[in-house]
Amino acid sequence: MIDLQLTDKKHDEERQGEALIVDAPLVRNGRKLYIESYGCQMNFADSEIVASILLDQGFETTGDYKEADVVFINTCSIRENAEQRVRNRLSQFGVEKRRNPKLIVGVLGCMAERLKSKFLEEEKLVDVVVGPDAYRELPQLLSEVESGHKAINVLLSREETYADISPVRLNGNGITAFISIMRGCDNMCSFCVVPFTRGRERSRDPHSIMAEAQDLFDRGYKEVTLLGQNVDSYKWKGSDADDSAEIEVNFAQLLEKVALISPELRIRFSTSHPKDITDEVLYTIAKYDNICNYIHLPVQSGSSRVLELMNRTYTREWYINRIDAIRNIIPDCAISSDIIAGFCTETEEEHQETLSIMDYVKYDFAFTFSYSERPGTLAARKFEDDVPEDVKKRRLSEILIKQQETSLYRLQQFVGKTVRILVEGTSKKSDKDFCGRNDQNAMVVFPATAGVSAGQYVYVHIDRCTSATLLGTVVVEEPEIV
Ligand code: 5AD
Ligand code: SF4
Repeated sequence: MIDLQLTDKKHDEERQGEALIVDAPLVRNGRKLYIESYGCQMNFADSEIVASILLDQGFETTGDYKEADVVFINTCSIRENAEQRVRNRLSQFGVEKRRNPKLIVGVLGCMAERLKSKFLEEEKLVDVVVGPDAYRELPQLLSEVESGHKAINVLLSREETYADISPVRLNGNGITAFISIMRGCDNMCSFCVVPFTRGRERSRDPHSIMAEAQDLFDRGYKEVTLLGQNVDSYKWKGSDADDSAEIEVNFAQLLEKVALISPELRIRFSTSHPKDITDEVLYTIAKYDNICNYIHLPVQSGSSRVLELMNRTYTREWYINRIDAIRNIIPDCAISSDIIAGFCTETEEEHQETLSIMDYVKYDFAFTFSYSERPGTLAARKFEDDVPEDVKKRRLSEILIKQQETSLYRLQQFVGKTVRILVEGTSKKSDKDFCGRNDQNAMVVFPATAGVSAGQYVYVHIDRCTSATLLGTVVVEEPEIV
């Protein structure tokens, strides 16, 4: 049975400190693991790999770090405030460690990779530091700690995809799950620490991806999200399972393969890069009803000059061309974005260009950030972080206000219509309400209705909306849908 500790799958790039627990039927060693994850969806997916490795060793998971033998914190380095939150949390674990000196505290993920052994020097309470490509070594590293040593492995790999490890579904609603299809990133956007913390890009064997998706579907899951830093550059070359002929699989082909598992299995994916998203991918989305009409296509800035400094390798015009292609090929596709305010040397006019591209696209949703210089990145080495904090803050708030307006505008388009949604469970705010997402990833809340349960597809008439949620009522007969 999977514990339903986490019901709300926030689509946030910087999710904060969620404790992940599972109760799996295995031979126990009597020891308990507490794992808390920060940052992107990839990190949450990685925590499921980590839990799988330790459950194999006989651990069980707990949602209370005070009763744990091992506490892991899977960290994010993307912005300075993400790292600060982790440090604050570590000092709380320090209090527990003073009470229980046997407690093992481990730092995993991007901060472990970025700071390496510095972590062990700076944070005396940390026993073990493990980078994103070294999780297979966790059992040995824990043994080292038990024999009285600090342990560290931050080696990055060109091959590791954890393809053979079956993730334990930790934040399970039993309906939706992530599948990691690649690791690392080769893009070198100048602001971004990810290529340094997660290493070179590598794609996972499609056979293992398909097997994982099929297994989830067989166990009652109805939605999978294919994850990678840059899914459009997914490329795998190897022998076909059946006849050992050499095959090449690109992202469009992978999407199609997963979509063909069953029309009842919804497919989502994230993140797409504007330079790589092809018409072939767009036509594949359009061809299959069960590939959701939703694309996360981060623009970062609306100014071609800033985009060049960011090393995004596309221009404003190129980005607009990709948006036009999406609108032509998948007319009802929702589009979301990541936007950075106040990148090095950004002028007021360039900031206005970001606002105007937002007007053009009318994003359904956007994650918005103030530029945060990350040590070691190209931007930190080459450019001055010269936009004053108060200017960054003001530009960010203008971006946020615009996004709230367009999110509301987008949701209003559904009011009065009927949408098909996948019921994910009871709503966060009231157990008298159910929630689920429509094809375009909008959250829909509606009164719990007899005969309706999690995992079902239902039609909901949208009566009204807020700027974040659609509110409606279940309709019994199958209507004409949007
Ligand atoms: N400062 C601000 N935002 C950043 N992002 C990545 N690095 C930084 C940074 N140094 C944002 C980008 C990226 C998202 C995951 O985080 O918008 O797409
Ligand atoms: Fe970072 Fe750019 Fe790679 Fe995204 S595509 S992870 S922003 S380097």
